[in-house]
Amino acid sequence: MSIFQNIQESKIYKNEQALSTEFLPNFLPHRETQIQEIARNLNPLTKGRKPQNTFISGPPGIGKTCVTRFVFRELDEYAGEKVDTVFVNTWDYNTAPALLTKIVIELGYPIPRRGLSKDEIVEKLIEILKRKGKSVVIGLDEIDQLVNKDGTALYDLLRINQYVKTPVGLVMISNYSNIFSNIEPRIKSSLDTQEIGFKGYSLQEMKDILKERCNEAFRTGSVQEGVLLLCGNHAVNRGGDVRVGLECLRKAAKICEKEDNDRILVKHVKEILPSVKKVKLQIMRDRLEGVDKNIVEILKNEKKMVFSDFEEKYNQKHESLSHTSLKKHLDYLEGAGLIRTSETRSGSRGRKSYISLVKRKNF
Ligand SMILES: Nc1ncnc2c1ncn2[C@@H]1O[C@H](COP(=O)(O)OP(=O)(O)OP(=O)(O)O)[C@@H](O)[C@H]1O
Ligand SMILES: [Mg+2]
Repeated sequence: MSIFQNIQESKIYKNEQALSTEFLPNFLPHRETQIQEIARNLNPLTKGRKPQNTFISGPPGIGKTCVTRFVFRELDEYAGEKVDTVFVNTWDYNTAPALLTKIVIELGYPIPRRGLSKDEIVEKLIEILKRKGKSVVIGLDEIDQLVNKDGTALYDLLRINQYVKTPVGLVMISNYSNIFSNIEPRIKSSLDTQEIGFKGYSLQEMKDILKERCNEAFRTGSVQEGVLLLCGNHAVNRGGDVRVGLECLRKAAKICEKEDNDRILVKHVKEILPSVKKVKLQIMRDRLEGVDKNIVEILKNEKKMVFSDFEEKYNQKHESLSHTSLKKHLDYLEGAGLIRTSETRSGSRGRKSYISLVKRKNF
């Protein structure tokens, strides 16, 4: 007898995948206006004309990424012959060479990930775009990463427009609406973006969204009334991130299955609610690299550190960094909400600045 024979079908799930954060639904409630707006901006691409570059900003977990991926998918379906869509998360490709290489690969051309100079990659990209003769839209998610680490990367992308006749459009996404304030004016002016600010969902909207996901994920009748209200409320109270609501549903479903129940009950949700925290900061912390990661590691074991002590410790443990450079990383981490800084006057010795990690329980 096969070991698989006795494994029972889930009593509640019909498509568990639909509760994962990566799942891209066919219907995104309460984002119709934004979807239309982005589609209108990109529409010229379908006629070989230059689109309106777009910048999407707003707090975590409110549909910026999924809306953009949704529009790209629709565009692929509608005009795949004429338009290529490329979507890159710049957390993973945060320098010009890495990003440009990724775009070349996404356009379907194998290229070594390392070893080519930036100019060589740009040339290659231009050659490919000319050969394809298609319009292209490039989605740059979490673009603050790129702007922070390599502000010139955007310039390299924009430069391409001068060499190819077919249009290249950009859709950029960030949690922060002011990320372009520090980049060079020439880059800013040639970006010429229209900003679409996404706002958080109301409780009712959050419930509608979770309800749609439940309809995709669970068998009819397997969610007790009241479950959505609890999960939606928890998500709204924890920064409005839909991921929090999805996690509540997944965890409650797990308890339900463990009990061999065929309905997710309010009591299942109540049991797991305290364990569901804000998710975005943890996601970000897990993805930190290099200096940023080192900083968090040092602060993890300390309650609160005087800046000079911290600086000393950092430079002991790791390759030395200048004061300014360290400060820049700290500013970034503070802006992202991962660390806190404070200042006090301490008698005759003047100001002291302190840094501390934002603890998980406070997320
Ligand atoms: N209107 C919606 N309908 C259905 N699902 C949604 C909607 N808005 C958000 N979601 C879901 O919530 C989760 C988070 O959304 P998304 O990743 O788009 O957030 P984001 O705004 O890009 O957040 P971040 O700033 O952290 O990147 C995803 O699983 C997404 O499918
Ligand atoms: Mg996102």
